[in-house]
Amino acid sequence: MATQSEANRKPALPLSATDVRVFRAVEEERRRIAMELHDDLGQQLTSSLIIAYQCHESIPDSDVEAKSLAAEVIECHRRIALASQRLVSNLQPGPALKFGLAFAVNNLVLEIQDLGVSAHFDDQLDDVELHPDTVLHLYRIVQEAANNVVKHSGGGNLDILICASEDNLVVVTITDTGKGFDLKRADHGRSGLSNMALHARMLNGDFSIQSVLNDDSASNHGTVVRCSILRTTVPVQVSSV
Ligand SMILES: Nc1ncnc2c1ncn2[C@@H]1O[C@H](COP(=O)(O)OP(=O)(O)O)[C@@H](O)[C@H]1O
Ligand SMILES: [Mg+2]
Repeated sequence: MATQSEANRKPALPLSATDVRVFRAVEEERRRIAMELHDDLGQQLTSSLIIAYQCHESIPDSDVEAKSLAAEVIECHRRIALASQRLVSNLQPGPALKFGLAFAVNNLVLEIQDLGVSAHFDDQLDDVELHPDTVLHLYRIVQEAANNVVKHSGGGNLDILICASEDNLVVVTITDTGKGFDLKRADHGRSGLSNMALHARMLNGDFSIQSVLNDDSASNHGTVVRCSILRTTVPVQVSSV
């Protein structure tokens, strides 16, 4: 039987000082790991890619087998470099966020499409100005929900809608047409779902997750994550992006 459930509806719980401290620490740690990945691993990858190119060039065309092996090593490096860039931008989306929420979400969607997932972003934000920390919180919600679609939905289409409504709201909706899940049974010990709710609380926003399991009786299966906030919200500061 299809199950439909909804979580974390209003009223939002008040934020504790510990919540804020944890968020600041998480953002700080993400920034540190991103920097190490970029500066250390990134440099080493570049050096070894140059050596791989030199190997490839030094092999005579007549040695078809060795040449093709060297080409494979280069292709392997290229994939590792791309994966590492994706990790860095996942951990530290700050640079992209400086160009606004829509820009950063668009980048995220392009990265997800590169993984072969059908993903679409509808930007109806109309260039509304948001506080930089609001942008960060909303981005983290979109990022987690979208990554969940990639990891858990079993191949459903991903649709992200961000819109500014006439009644002064900004609404972010992440929808997939995947296999859905039972919220009551989901492992809430894992932090993704609860972190999204916490980000919404930082913005004093409404947050909900609805999911319909894919079984014989469900034609509209999949998951919808939604967060709406007042566009004038001044969030609890967790980071300077
Ligand atoms: N879009 C989705 N489709 C199907 N299952 C999902 C989706 N999002 C979350 N889930 C389920 O909820 C669980 C908890 O998610 P989350 O807290 O983000 O942890 P994690 O992604 O680390 O597993 C996931 O392990 C998965 O079973
Ligand atoms: Mg997750």
